[in-house]
Amino acid sequence: MSAVAPPDSSLRQRLLAWYDAQARDLPWRVRPAERAAGQRADPYRVWLSEVMLQQTTVPHATPYFLAFTRRWPTVSDLAAEADGEVMAAWAGLGYYARARNLLACARAVAADHGGVFPDTEDGLRALPGVGAYTAAAVAAIAFDRPANVVDGNIERVMARLFAVETPLPDAKPELKALAERFVTGERPGDWAQALMDLGATVCRPKAPLCERCPIAEGCAARRVGDPQTYPRRARKADRPRRRGLAYVIWRGDQVALVRRPPKGLLGGMLALPTSAWAPTAPAAEPGAEMGEWRDLGEVEHVFTHFALTLGVLESQTAPAPDGVIWLTGAEAEAAMPSVFAKALRLSLKGQARLL
Ligand code: ADE
Repeated sequence: MSAVAPPDSSLRQRLLAWYDAQARDLPWRVRPAERAAGQRADPYRVWLSEVMLQQTTVPHATPYFLAFTRRWPTVSDLAAEADGEVMAAWAGLGYYARARNLLACARAVAADHGGVFPDTEDGLRALPGVGAYTAAAVAAIAFDRPANVVDGNIERVMARLFAVETPLPDAKPELKALAERFVTGERPGDWAQALMDLGATVCRPKAPLCERCPIAEGCAARRVGDPQTYPRRARKADRPRRRGLAYVIWRGDQVALVRRPPKGLLGGMLALPTSAWAPTAPAAEPGAEMGEWRDLGEVEHVFTHFALTLGVLESQTAPAPDGVIWLTGAEAEAAMPSVFAKALRLSLKGQARLL
């Protein structure tokens, strides 16, 4: 919360007026005219959208958001669902720890708060799996609390508005402090969403549309040079690469899946059986020498901390590991994280050619 006067109140007014006219129509959003008429956002929908959007873009997250809210219209419905169902519905959104945290949070709201989200930033922050960003976003957007909501879009807008020369990630506290100066009790939810929309549609990472920007006049990056070069970034070390093998084992039209251990990368998700992933090419797992295998080539996948090259082997005859789950190819493709769906598609493509 900020007691400091905003640096330029006319800039605030211009951006809010732009938002009144241009706010994107998003399925979790109460647009400014509806908001002014007294409609309130559903905290469950705001929270769910924020968790989904931390990992991906609005176009990618929207179908997932619609599917989740159709299937689980309230936080208590979600809380009552089996873990595996929610993990499967999350498949494709990435970063599966979030799906586990999502369920932990839904269950805490259902069990400890009677299915009603706390309406303050501190109350939200105390929920399991709710970080500083999500607490601020839900407090502002659902409850109109003057919280300082700073996502990547808003960092970029601030870096350009003030031509911040410190490179990311070191610049984060500075960008947060700059954003804080604009936070007031006047329409805090709309203010946060106006900045998000500006960042997503005008102050874009590449090719910003400065001629359409309602606050271009106040923008220091525009005055001093090329806005696109902000935020400055420290040179990133190359991601390390790991290699592994994925096994596509068929029995008729069913493929063998395993459930990954609950902790760790892609924890709790359905997956193809794989070798270990290591910096050097892996040896096949014990047992993989049995049966006839076809080499389908490789798939690439980039995780946050490493890139993975996964060789894909297919067999109709190899023994399946203990405890596998048999699903049809289509079911498996829908239920697994992208990296395994990609590997499975190599096999499905090969089958399509044989038909
Ligand atoms: N990105 C993250 N949260 C968002 C929201 N509530 N609206 C639009 N874009 C967003």
